[in-house]
Amino acid sequence: MPAPSDHPRRILVLHGPNLNLLGTREPEVYGTTTLEQINVEISRICREKEVNCDLFQSNHEGALIDRLHQSKGLADFLIINPGAFTHTSVALRDAISAISVPFIEVHLSNIYARETFRHKSLLADLALGIISGLGAQGYYAAVNYALDRTS
Ligand code: DQA
Repeated sequence: MPAPSDHPRRILVLHGPNLNLLGTREPEVYGTTTLEQINVEISRICREKEVNCDLFQSNHEGALIDRLHQSKGLADFLIINPGAFTHTSVALRDAISAISVPFIEVHLSNIYARETFRHKSLLADLALGIISGLGAQGYYAAVNYALDRTS
């Protein structure tokens, strides 16, 4: 069933550094689902609702920022797993503020159950919500939330 017209028409999904290695990267922390599998499922959910979904992964802070700038006025909703940039990047925070798009921050692992340097997110207070610790399901929950949103 297509999404009603006041639902997002275009969702941008950004994956930060090292997430290209999902599946083999510390599977005890991040699970065994690959990024490709996550993207396929996200695309399937979006297709079902006839919502356009733009998926992008980069290991480079500037490339993520460029993608955010390019999506200004085009993406209605952002889902982002900033990886380690979560804890360090004022620039990424500023880029999200600059394009003023509602977003959900997703982490596969529960960042609050890990090292203390992971407890701080520089983006979290700007987010509509944060999903942390639900593995790949966290992305799907975020996408479903975005698609069910009514403004
Ligand atoms: C992560 C958590 C971050 O602390 C870490 O640097 C990552 C992945 C997560 O999805 O759990 O790269 O964002």
